[in-house]
Amino acid sequence: MPEKLIGVLTAGGDCPGLNAALRAVGKAANAYGMGVIGFLDGFRGLVENRTIHLDPSKLSGILTMGGTILGTSRDKPHRMPVGSMGTMDMTPLAVDNYSRLHLDALVCMGGAGTVKNAYRLLKSGLNIITLPKTIDNDVCGTDVTFGFDTAMTIAAEAIDRLHTTADSHHRIIIVETMGHNTGWLALGAGTAGGADITLIPEIPYHIESVAEALLRRSRQGKRFSIIAVAEGAITVEEAAARAEAGTEISPDDEEGGSDKTARLAQKLQALTGLETRVTVLGHLQRGGTPTPADRLLATRLGARCAELISEGASGIMVAVKGDDCVPVKLGEVAGKLKTVPPDHPWIRTARQVGTCFGD
Ligand code: F6P
Repeated sequence: MPEKLIGVLTAGGDCPGLNAALRAVGKAANAYGMGVIGFLDGFRGLVENRTIHLDPSKLSGILTMGGTILGTSRDKPHRMPVGSMGTMDMTPLAVDNYSRLHLDALVCMGGAGTVKNAYRLLKSGLNIITLPKTIDNDVCGTDVTFGFDTAMTIAAEAIDRLHTTADSHHRIIIVETMGHNTGWLALGAGTAGGADITLIPEIPYHIESVAEALLRRSRQGKRFSIIAVAEGAITVEEAAARAEAGTEISPDDEEGGSDKTARLAQKLQALTGLETRVTVLGHLQRGGTPTPADRLLATRLGARCAELISEGASGIMVAVKGDDCVPVKLGEVAGKLKTVPPDHPWIRTARQVGTCFGD
């Protein structure tokens, strides 16, 4: 009989690295004499008590697998969809299932929204530990999230490929990355891929400034340009309207893209006379095998998570701080987003190599 029993779930958008983290939690937990139960499909599996026993045989061969063997969802215990009847607060059911399984801890792997939902469960009496996962890299309190390096690699490789066709056709190509609320992915991939212009939610842009930057390059004899744009990037006018309406960005904001980038391309083509095309990377950035960096990061976080649980930790996120993985109080990070500071070193670097941010 294991000394302790750990529940684990993966919630929110999937990303490469989740299975590496599950493997590390399971292997390390076993090494500490603890058992691990996986809940299927995020918090919904906790509410519906749908589980699988994560014995070593389930963890074999998953280190390099994308996605999550547990499945995931964006369902929230306190607002669980119930058919056509809308949503219901299923927190009591989640607490009851946790208790009846005699769990000592519940590990929730997720992004900012998951941290917020997990914190609610902590306040309902569950012993919660979260691991910071998202391609958006926007979880507060940690240097980085796993999934980010893989998505940045995919997006940068896409930008590399788009350079050759943009150059051949002398076109403007706009590459839309994910990043509904923050611009880390567009900024990292744009800089790594040599984008000439990078647009992120944290720096509202003037379309006229973007057009002028394109025309300036054209006047310099550059016969193509690449624009990296986060799906959540907004104009100065949109930012003003948002501020007036008092609609702050929240981790709960519904995810998902729009045809904003197509409209941006049409406007830029009209303003510059330069042929413009759009590539939306979408869920490609969340697919396939994790990079070695993400495998290492996920393994570090998962193993440290099991160690901290074996030592009795509770109510924490296992965060990355330099070479260490350290416990951070969940209450200090729940409900917060890590946005790109306009004076961030990555922004300074991009500007130093001539990147325009539309401001
Ligand atoms: O939260 C991560 C993320 O990939 C965002 O960057 C993106 O906007 C969103 O998920 C897409 O959500 P879904 O997969 O539910 O369409």
